[in-house]
Amino acid sequence: MNVAVVGATGAVGEAMLSILEQRNFPVNEIFPLASSRSAGKSVVFNGRSLEVGRLDEFDFSTVELGLFSAGGSVSAEYAPKATAAGCIVVDNTSYFRNDPEIPLIVPEVNLHALDQHQGIIANPNCSTIQMVVALKPIYDAVGIHRINVATYQAVSGAGRRAIEELAGQTAALLNGKKPAIEVMPKQIAFNVIPEIDSFQDNGYTREEMKMVWETRKILEDDTLMINPTAVRVPVFYGHSEAVHLETRDPVTAAEVRQLLSVAPGVTVIDDHTPGGYPTAVTEAAKQDGVFVGRIREDISCDRGINLWIVSDNVRKGAALNSIQISEALLDRM
Ligand code: A2P
Repeated sequence: MNVAVVGATGAVGEAMLSILEQRNFPVNEIFPLASSRSAGKSVVFNGRSLEVGRLDEFDFSTVELGLFSAGGSVSAEYAPKATAAGCIVVDNTSYFRNDPEIPLIVPEVNLHALDQHQGIIANPNCSTIQMVVALKPIYDAVGIHRINVATYQAVSGAGRRAIEELAGQTAALLNGKKPAIEVMPKQIAFNVIPEIDSFQDNGYTREEMKMVWETRKILEDDTLMINPTAVRVPVFYGHSEAVHLETRDPVTAAEVRQLLSVAPGVTVIDDHTPGGYPTAVTEAAKQDGVFVGRIREDISCDRGINLWIVSDNVRKGAALNSIQISEALLDRM
């Protein structure tokens, strides 16, 4: 396949290139694309240095697959142009996710929906992906009535400049200097910020509402109650989530542990001993899986189950999920 990576100089684009390489995706020619700002830059693929091309000058009729991760407005403009030229688009932005005509896919959960695609497939939000991978086996076994979730999200979810801001602020503060605040709404080094994406009329942020809209769409259940709080933490890679479920039928923590131990894409680390749980930095970062620990019955509620879910937001939460979708597309060709 000839493949275009749109946003190839970004945090997710860079991971896409390395995952295509690691998984031996059958790439014939690859075209890393970005804006005119990146003219003259190069990226490495399969040991070769490739010049980054300009998206606004690219001819999509030369590729079969476009992996888009350059922001919603870029996808809005260029994804339709790409599909009109015969290219299939896997879009990592939020632009098409709520369109009922466009499948929103997590391969471990709802691959069947891929068959309805008409040229564009949406990749869900990072926090949604890792949560639904872990919840799907429980949903299928006993049903889920309500999800309360608080996220602890890494700065890489906000792109390369946010990664640099955390590093820069940390270095500045450790050297007794004033931290520069340009990307995040407040100082992120040595702090936590309960604001990701824009505020909505109902007081939730858009990141929180994405978890509501997308989880319902992926699980095909509009009755599911979801109450998220999305929080940015000073971690570079790996999102963590404290998830509190109310199931429809009773289930024990031991049964949940058993369900998750055989679930695709899930690794259970749940020893109830010091350190016997997954964390973003130690277990999840640079790995493919969704890690689950702290599985326990909720002492405050019948049919309540608590989970701690951790995954690499740039890999399973974005680049890897897009490439798994692309692999499934290839299988169907
Ligand atoms: P560029 O390097 O030219 O700005 P991140 O989310 O890590 O910030 O990365 C965003 C990616 O999207 C980068 O590769 C960036 O390229 C790309 N991008 C942003 N705006 C545009 C645009 N208007 N056209 C093409 N690529 C864009």
